[in-house]
Amino acid sequence: MADSQSTRVSTLQHHQVDAVIVGGGGAGLRAALQLAESGADVAVLSKVFPTRSHTVAAQGGIAAALGNVSDDNWLWHMYDTIKGSDYLGDQDAIEFMCRNAAKAIIELEHFGMPFDRLENGRIFQRPFGGMTRNFGEQPISRTCAVADRTGHAMLHTLYQRNVKANTQFLIEWFALDLIRDTDGDVLGVIALEIETGDIHVIHAKATMLATGGAGRIFQASTNAYINTGDGLGMAARAGLPLQDMEFWQFHPTGVLNAGVLITEGVRGEGGYLVNRDGERFMERYAPSAKDLASRDVVSRAMATEIKEGRGVGKHQDAVYLKLDHLGEEIINKRLPGIREIAKTFAGVDPTEAPIPVVPTVHYMMGGIPTNLDGQVVAYDGQREQVVNGLYAVGECACVSVHGANRLGSNSLLDLVVFGKAAGDKMAKDIAGQGAHKPLPANVADATLSRVARLEASSEGEKAAEVGQRMRQTMQKHCGVFRFPELLASGVDAIQSVAEQSQAIRISDKSKVFNTARVEALELDNLMQVAQATMRAAHARQESRGAHAREDYPERDDQQWLTHSLYSAAGHELQYKPVRLQPLSVAPFELKKRVY
Ligand code: FUM
Repeated sequence: MADSQSTRVSTLQHHQVDAVIVGGGGAGLRAALQLAESGADVAVLSKVFPTRSHTVAAQGGIAAALGNVSDDNWLWHMYDTIKGSDYLGDQDAIEFMCRNAAKAIIELEHFGMPFDRLENGRIFQRPFGGMTRNFGEQPISRTCAVADRTGHAMLHTLYQRNVKANTQFLIEWFALDLIRDTDGDVLGVIALEIETGDIHVIHAKATMLATGGAGRIFQASTNAYINTGDGLGMAARAGLPLQDMEFWQFHPTGVLNAGVLITEGVRGEGGYLVNRDGERFMERYAPSAKDLASRDVVSRAMATEIKEGRGVGKHQDAVYLKLDHLGEEIINKRLPGIREIAKTFAGVDPTEAPIPVVPTVHYMMGGIPTNLDGQVVAYDGQREQVVNGLYAVGECACVSVHGANRLGSNSLLDLVVFGKAAGDKMAKDIAGQGAHKPLPANVADATLSRVARLEASSEGEKAAEVGQRMRQTMQKHCGVFRFPELLASGVDAIQSVAEQSQAIRISDKSKVFNTARVEALELDNLMQVAQATMRAAHARQESRGAHAREDYPERDDQQWLTHSLYSAAGHELQYKPVRLQPLSVAPFELKKRVY
């Protein structure tokens, strides 16, 4: 990213396109491809070069019931995903995703994605947590992989296809706000060109948010520094709700003190967790699936081992992930990136010694609510209403297929299945429209004053300092296990950090760097996500999936089989029912969730 100096915000520059997509990760690129190939004029706007988007960091794979290693069935995948979600996932969306998974993989293969192969030439598949055969009988190999660099391969494949299809890229542009008219329709975005400091109005018939996650609200996260919840901030400021924000996934295996991801594929290949006594403790917590139980279950088990004094390391605040028994050949072939990461960030060669790991924030199950076509929906207490012109896909969206806990390798699948569906819907909607709807007068005023607020202040703390306080607050008050007093005090604490974030300074001796401007504007987005998370977590009085409350240890389907919807105005929460009716098969009944 250019670190250019600018002392001004320039005059507005106007552009008109059929579709603008904010975010150049897997979801945005899959949607863009669909649009570009349909002949639409589509611009992808990205803070970073598209192949540096966070999808590049996805390691272990993408799920689909191909049945290449043993018999499989998309219904089994659907069952696992519903159970994994602790029944908060919408069964129609989950059916759509699991049913379309195999097609999505074959399509990626035909795009040129270099999947690993089995001896017989078919796509390689490995076991992943919570993926089973025959409705929970035993673990199954369902996750297709490119060694431990699956996201990297997918992102480069999709980027190249987009270049071929003439998608336009606006690189190192930062989207600031949605443009919404008085009918509530979305007509594009206001964006900052980071290098020049110029502000642009991008007027579009269809606007998509595909900005990924927001894991940087937490101190210890596998997420890249770019994961600042920009789409969620934009949606919240535009008066749109955020759904199920209390549900954050802690990935069991982040490198101690570094947060870098060690793929679940390690356990899929036969690695396992041990405590200070060398005990394979997952046998006690999940007798059947053991280390391949779903992530919330494994993370809680690890946190319990550490809390009860069976942790490893100088401060006994980690457990070991052991894989040396897999042998150098398998590690080099299937997990080469992990060997590198372990050497660099933990100082161990995993062919010889175990890696110290801790549960680390990894994925946001909630997001901007959408229907199966990726259209953003609002809720009036009775029914959902489409927000015309606005679509969301990927981690920033909540369709909702992951519910209260996502299964590993379902996220890359979500990106491509719903990216394609939303791209198709956008192309259809654009084709059905005449000219662009006129822009409201003074279209960028609110954004310009938000930017100007930063320029004006020569006092106050820096964004980095306030951001650090936000991350510490979230980590302390909203962790793997959640406690009533900490949640209650967390609501006040995060409110106070939010107020501090409104009085920060970005200039230093009268110079303003655009990177400082971006960091401060990103903080606005992070604060929206942090507020939504803390308040929704405080309000939900049950334990479900990744939301584990000490004072309400059980799932409560009577009261809480509902999606939360947080509105930034007044910090209000409302609730809407989970969709329990699939598209074409019988509903899966709610059961106690054991692994
Ligand atoms: O463990 C992993 O490789 C992560 C995969 C995922 O989050 O889906």
